[in-house]
Amino acid sequence: MVVLGIETSCDETGVALVSLSPATNSTEKSRGGGPGGHGRVLAQALHSQISLHAAYGGVVPELASRDHILRLSPLIQQVMAQAGLAWPNIDAIAYTEGPGLAGALLVGASLAQGLAAATGKPIIGIHHLEGHLLSPLLAQEAQALGFPFLALLVSGGHTQIMQVDGLGEYTLLGETIDDAAGEAFDKSAQLLGLGYPGGPEIGRWAQKGDAKRFDLPRPLLKRPTLDFSFAGLKTAVLTQVQKLKQSLRLDDQARADMAAAVQAAIVDVLSAKCRKAIHETGIRRLVVAGGVGANQSLRERLQHIAQEEDCQIIFPPPALCTDNGVMIAWAAGLRLLAGQASQTAGSFNVKPRWPLSETALRAS
Ligand code: KG4
Ligand code: ZN
Repeated sequence: MVVLGIETSCDETGVALVSLSPATNSTEKSRGGGPGGHGRVLAQALHSQISLHAAYGGVVPELASRDHILRLSPLIQQVMAQAGLAWPNIDAIAYTEGPGLAGALLVGASLAQGLAAATGKPIIGIHHLEGHLLSPLLAQEAQALGFPFLALLVSGGHTQIMQVDGLGEYTLLGETIDDAAGEAFDKSAQLLGLGYPGGPEIGRWAQKGDAKRFDLPRPLLKRPTLDFSFAGLKTAVLTQVQKLKQSLRLDDQARADMAAAVQAAIVDVLSAKCRKAIHETGIRRLVVAGGVGANQSLRERLQHIAQEEDCQIIFPPPALCTDNGVMIAWAAGLRLLAGQASQTAGSFNVKPRWPLSETALRAS
């Protein structure tokens, strides 16, 4: 099965062609089933709007929608040419149905629907976070990962720990009560005058910094819940940066030290809650997904915890951590292999807000 995946929920236009085959391996079946399929990326293309939004320090929704309109069709043509495929070779069309920016989502959904109507192909709308969540399972070594597993979903809009019992069987164990971890990275970087997006910038500057110079809070670290809070961290960074500016001491060393302190605070909280989730559920498989999952320091800390807790840990390759079309095609392909009904062409709706727990499989 070859699936065309289209991602336009925020500021990346992602398109990919992924080929899937059903899992046949008996070991996978005896372990309660892996993701249910094997996948291979035939072609992918990504256009990042980072430079478009950089001057504003965050994504401007209207600019994002307009740019998706410009980029999407050429990118689809590009991946088809790259894979050497034509429409008769494509078995299904998948797009991000939500959550995300309404206008941006509508661009991908409308084009996908138009293509489905024109070609008669089945079409399927995918939850953006399900895409992130399942993307690590595309890696060769992870395709045999069985359910259940824990997933840490850390992106610019979400910070959640989920229990995944099967495809479409997602239970929220904890989430942020205010800002997302990626937002904490982005806003701290903005306060320090570093580039956008802030996560990779903080990661880079932190390498030259001393995390101990500034004392930052670890919100909810000691609370007996799996919830997160990052708003207080942002306020603490703001206060410290204002003090540094007033005393004319916001130099590059101070920026690097603050970047290291911010990263350490976020990594401490995320990793402590993952350890807690392992203890509470007894599940010893952890998948890390979403843009913040590309952070090297977080990866190292979680690797360490996984070793101590005898837990299998899976990270997507860094390029698959941030938004992309591959994860949408892959998630759609797994759903179709599992018997999910495709949508009726012409009857579509985007869902800017959409809990991941409301994505149970709808069999055909
Ligand atoms: O998953 P994603 O691409 O888009 C959303 O769905 O939000 O995540 C983007 C977020 C941004 O906040 C960005 O700063 C953060 O992921 N990010 C990182 C790194 N790369 C991206 N944060 C920390 N370290 C990184 N290396
Ligand atoms: Zn995302």
